[in-house]
Amino acid sequence: MDVVRRPVILGVCFALGLVLAAAGAPLAASMATGQQAATPAPVSTQLSPAEMEVFLLQASMSRIRDAGAGVTASQRATLSDGRLTHDAHIQTVDIARPVFQAGAKTELNFKDTYRYNIAGYRLARLVGLETVPMSVERNVNGKAASVTWWVDDVLMDEKERMRKSTSGPNPGRTTSQLQVMLVWDELIQNKDRNRGNIVWTKDWTMWLIDHTRAFRLGKDLMKPETLTRCERGLFERLKALTDESIAEAVGPSLTKLEREALLERRDRIVTILSDRIAKLGEDVVLFTLRGPG
Ligand SMILES: Nc1ncnc2c1ncn2[C@@H]1O[C@H](COP(=O)(O)OP(=O)(O)O)[C@@H](O)[C@H]1O
Ligand SMILES: [Mg+2]
Repeated sequence: MDVVRRPVILGVCFALGLVLAAAGAPLAASMATGQQAATPAPVSTQLSPAEMEVFLLQASMSRIRDAGAGVTASQRATLSDGRLTHDAHIQTVDIARPVFQAGAKTELNFKDTYRYNIAGYRLARLVGLETVPMSVERNVNGKAASVTWWVDDVLMDEKERMRKSTSGPNPGRTTSQLQVMLVWDELIQNKDRNRGNIVWTKDWTMWLIDHTRAFRLGKDLMKPETLTRCERGLFERLKALTDESIAEAVGPSLTKLEREALLERRDRIVTILSDRIAKLGEDVVLFTLRGPG
């Protein structure tokens, strides 16, 4: 595990992504209207999103090594700006294939690209999902890459959680976080939420990483039957999404077609959840996700 050496943020690395939205305009605006973030920050930090972005974009890189898991041979690097030292994940994958054989499944219009890590972070922030770590585009050794804040204090990934058959000290919160993930993955049509792409920090906060195989053009949901509940703030923000707000948030990391498909899926998600609310009542379907402790 890498070490943050700047005292003001010592020990709070795992919460940094959660705090990012706190200073962001979209979140600030929706907070003013009483909406809550889908995943509240457990701990605060003094590193603002703007500072973190500058750090990821400009800090010098050393100790570039294998990220340690996964299938795309992505890397982990240690970044330092002279005051702060923290690790980042580096992903340069950028593949597009008309037809791709993923195990037993054939996927058309297959893409696996670092660009979607950036889109994932930016869109997550827009919908108030604060547990997708910050990701920026940066040239690394001559290649375009996503450079993503490394999530510290990882307790285990989902694979290990399943193996240990544990839900931590607050199983209800763990389930709620997974339900947020199900909605999120349908929104972005993530084809690769394998168990290595979910990591749990020591405070039992779920972090969602690796969105390089998301943002498909399909308009149908993958598993609509899994959409049974949703976080209140997330539901409100989903309803408020527009092509303009998405385009402004994600910039060139998504194409117009990718944004259009996303909005179609949003409509389907909102219809399913609204129907359930009409049938079962808001208190059964919507929940407020609280921070750890
Ligand atoms: N931001 C991050 N913070 C902590 N660990 C990460 C982060 N990004 C990736 N990892 C670790 O590196 C592994 C490989 O990265 P990933 O983005 O999943 O690439 P792949 O496409 O090869 O699966 C992940 O399974 C996880 O263990
Ligand atoms: Mg992965």
